[in-house]
Amino acid sequence: MPTNDDRIARLGSMRERALEGGGRTRIEQQHARGKLTARERIELLLDSESFVEIDAFVTARGTDGDAEAILGDGVVTGHGLIDGRPLFVFSQDFTVFGGSLSEAYAAKICKVMDLAMKVGAPIVGLNDSGGARIQEGVVSLGGYADIFLRNTLASGVVPQLSVVMGPCAGGAVYSPAITDFTIMVDGTSYMFVTGPNVVRAVTHEDVDSERLGGAVTHTTISGVAHVAAADEATALATARRILSFLPQNNLDDPLRAESRDPHDRREADLDRIVPNDPTQPYDMHGVIDRVVDDGDFLEIQPGWAQNVIVGFARLAGRSVGIVAQQPAVLAGALDISASTKAARFVRTCDCFNVPLVTFVDVPGFLPGVDQEHGGIIRHGAKLLYAYCEATVPKLTVITRKAYGGAYDVMSSKHIRGDLNIAWPTAEIAVMGPEGAVNVIYRDEIDAAQDAAVERQRLVADYQSRFANPYIAASRGYIDDVILPSETRPRLIAGLEVLATKRDTNPPKKHGNIPL
Ligand code: HXC
Repeated sequence: MPTNDDRIARLGSMRERALEGGGRTRIEQQHARGKLTARERIELLLDSESFVEIDAFVTARGTDGDAEAILGDGVVTGHGLIDGRPLFVFSQDFTVFGGSLSEAYAAKICKVMDLAMKVGAPIVGLNDSGGARIQEGVVSLGGYADIFLRNTLASGVVPQLSVVMGPCAGGAVYSPAITDFTIMVDGTSYMFVTGPNVVRAVTHEDVDSERLGGAVTHTTISGVAHVAAADEATALATARRILSFLPQNNLDDPLRAESRDPHDRREADLDRIVPNDPTQPYDMHGVIDRVVDDGDFLEIQPGWAQNVIVGFARLAGRSVGIVAQQPAVLAGALDISASTKAARFVRTCDCFNVPLVTFVDVPGFLPGVDQEHGGIIRHGAKLLYAYCEATVPKLTVITRKAYGGAYDVMSSKHIRGDLNIAWPTAEIAVMGPEGAVNVIYRDEIDAAQDAAVERQRLVADYQSRFANPYIAASRGYIDDVILPSETRPRLIAGLEVLATKRDTNPPKKHGNIPL
């Protein structure tokens, strides 16, 4: 009969065994690859010593009581704190069967996801896995489906972040794909539906893992991932930072941070940031950085669809989601990728009660056969739908062009914009002066002695009549025309008064966003 001391000693040795995962040799191999272990990653992610593990003694099905069975079965799960706020975490352990997912492993992940939903706390998944555990067959596929279902049910209820820190292949990619943000580590992580060997056999394309599905590929070409981090520590710090802008769940508001940046700070530089020549580009980052608290802007998807900028910042300590055209790339036109990027971000902010601040300088949707055949109508509609549907405070600043349908789309008054202001440099019109003159004054230009001179005269006339904010302001479509330097105090005052905004959409099962 074991004594209490024996039992306590057994618990101690079980705990030690659980900490070892797949064993010291495999931990060393993991380090030799430049990767941290599942537990080291959790330590870096969470506030110091806040991790509380759950299910450390779970073993693969059919190994109950087996003294050799690996405790934890390849995934470390539990809860902890980030900036003092609770969250749930799972961290796949590559040292155990390559981090592959078994029935018991999936059940562990589902348990923490269910707990996160019950208490309304975020979930962060650290992915490093060879996919379905081959020995377990369809049971493992079922485990993935159990996770996908929970990802979907938790979507819009609690923030979900995925950090990809090793392989993530096959159907396994669809769990990160459903979550709100995916961060990848440059050089050591990859995501693809089928790996290079299958690609070679099926399509005869010769490609390596990095180019097929590495961090650079997914943050510059496919848009699958949101941030590429230089190393694991940076990836985990980025996850912490993203969470700092979000509430714990859809019923909470984001935390208000302390802000020392004066609320009434006026930036004289902004009065000259828009070039006199409307065809000249400028960098919209210069606008954002001058307006937000301490110039601190966390850009999301900075490397993909750069004609639109999205990301988080604070104004007087309040979290805001920024959406802005980038006139320095494609003149800020909305193409397919920019539309889907911005639409997703608008919906993410709206899910989690983060007010939207939109800076508009858009010549329109990008014309062309590629765009039309690629479905710019369908994709552009996503952005329109997302803005129409959003009920968070919506503040809009038109810095220069707001032409055509893109004027309507970019958080206009007509689609429930709450505060719509324009700079004196704004040009709000059905289309740009050149295009408009060619359509409405074709006969006059054809009849003129000198067509070029006549066109120039008509363009100047059109510009003075239509390419300004005052017609829109006279209709109340623009609430005010302000000095660019006044933008920060005006946005802060707007956010303050809108803090208690309540708006709803008609009751329905769910809308039918064009996908
Ligand atoms: C069981 C696995 C495994 C798996 C790796 N291991 N993947 N065990 N099931 N899926 C084991 C290996 O046998 C090895 O064990 C150890 O993990 C480390 O793997 P290595 O191959 O030595 O590591 P590395 O060279 O770094 O290669 C990593 C890898 C490779 C690229 C992930 O292991 C690999 O290609 N694995 C198979 C990937 C795969 O096809 N998975 C199924 C995808 S389909 P030992 O004991 O030898 O050290 C899928 C469906 C999901 O996942 C469906 C969801 C709907």
